[in-house]
Amino acid sequence: MGGRHRVTAFSLLTFVLLLWLFSGRSCGQPVRKCAGNKLCQSPRPPVVLVPGDLGNQLEAKLDKPSVVHYICYKKTDTFFTLWLNLEQLVPVAIDCWMDNIRLIYNRTTHTTSSPPGVNITVPGFGQTYSVEYLDPSKRSVGMYFFNIAQALVDWGYTRGDDVRGAPYDWRKAPNENKEYFLALQQMIEEMATNAGRPVVLIAHSMGNMYMLYFLNQQPQAWKDKYIKAFIALGAPWAGVAKTLRVITSGDNNGIPVIRPLKIRSQQRTAVSTSWLLPYSHTWPKDKVLIQTPTTNYTVMDYQRLYFDLDFKDGWLMRQDTESLLFDLTPPGVAVHCLYGSGIPTSEAFQYTSKFPDVDPTVVMGDGDGTVNLLSATQCKRWVGRQKQPVTLQELPGNEHVNMLLNVSTVAYIKKVLF
Ligand SMILES: *[C@@H]1O[C@H](CO)[C@@H](O)[C@H](O)[C@H]1NC(C)=O
Ligand SMILES: *[C@@H]1O[C@H](CO)[C@@H](O)[C@H](O)[C@H]1NC(C)=O
Ligand SMILES: *[C@@H]1O[C@H](CO)[C@@H](O)[C@H](O)[C@H]1NC(C)=O
Ligand SMILES: *[C@@H]1O[C@H](CO)[C@@H](O)[C@H](O)[C@H]1NC(C)=O
Repeated sequence: MGGRHRVTAFSLLTFVLLLWLFSGRSCGQPVRKCAGNKLCQSPRPPVVLVPGDLGNQLEAKLDKPSVVHYICYKKTDTFFTLWLNLEQLVPVAIDCWMDNIRLIYNRTTHTTSSPPGVNITVPGFGQTYSVEYLDPSKRSVGMYFFNIAQALVDWGYTRGDDVRGAPYDWRKAPNENKEYFLALQQMIEEMATNAGRPVVLIAHSMGNMYMLYFLNQQPQAWKDKYIKAFIALGAPWAGVAKTLRVITSGDNNGIPVIRPLKIRSQQRTAVSTSWLLPYSHTWPKDKVLIQTPTTNYTVMDYQRLYFDLDFKDGWLMRQDTESLLFDLTPPGVAVHCLYGSGIPTSEAFQYTSKFPDVDPTVVMGDGDGTVNLLSATQCKRWVGRQKQPVTLQELPGNEHVNMLLNVSTVAYIKKVLF
């Protein structure tokens, strides 16, 4: 009798120990100790919000050797909001703004930098304010992740604690944002440990490309331990046709006071624009994307296009970044891929003989108004190619940014979280 009891007690101890090991370690869940040294879990998975191109605030501090206009500030004592500040986008002031936000490409190092005397920083990493509103004065025009963040708070989340933003310098591609990914990894580990459970990533637009790149760099064991799911909203997995117009003739996004040709010079300097040109792994190789009276450009003709635009740095930028996600390697985490459809979306551009210094006639196709449907649905490649589930959810009638505000998106997020 005594012997059997000992065995039972020993087995029980082993069992508890194994349970602890498996729940806490071997099976890869983050561990958190509560009062009394017991394991405990938050009732909610922590959430990281990842913005897209133009999707978070940027700040600048100036001490410039020269300015482009006498009304421009040459020196500021403190950082001020460079994006989004509508007062800087009006005539004349926009010249100062463009001269501050542009990047300079170095052909030797294949990297970009700000103009002399311009220091640009990304405010609010780990908090949510700089992704909730692009404009710190909280004008509704710049409302971005606010609805989702507020819904999370209503469900019990705390801003800056178990829901945090991961803003970055969206002018650049991932090859020039190495410190960002290190900071993101550390933040995810910290949040998962605090909550005792893995994190949900919610990304929008280009933020999804950033997250795919990030996840592709992480070992599978890390992802199993720290990532519960990846909710991808409006992702341009295969690029977007609209970027071709941006580099060719500029795009004022319908803001009448901004002349497209004027903003083109600044828009071209953003490496992320060339990174997001349509990809040949998805676009039909014979599809004419840009048509001029003398030339048709397809996805195979970018070198020629960049040379004809007299924008050779752009061709280098494309070559620097095209391979970053060219294989669309599965992320290796559960994916929920949500995308808008049914909104007229730029698909091809027809130019007169004034190419490229003229607005094109735009050929429309299906998508969310920004991302072409063809590109947004490429997450379907991963179905069956990774062991984690991949769910596609079409959101008919949802525009690219407005999908962040739509109740059906918020309801879907809630379903994934709880
Ligand atoms: C580009 O970078 C190299 C190496 O750092 C430097 O020597 C060169 O001056 C830079 N070029 C320009 C135009 O700034
Ligand atoms: C820009 O400002 C930040 C914050 O004040 C500072 O840490 C950094 O060294 C500055 N960078 C440059 C290039 O001056
Ligand atoms: C460009 O393609 C269109 C069809 O998409 C064709 O009608 C036109 O002739 C082509 N132009 C040139 C210069 O090849
Ligand atoms: C919200 O999404 C639903 C379902 O996708 C759609 O029918 C509706 O038109 C959207 N509402 C707005 C305001 O975009």
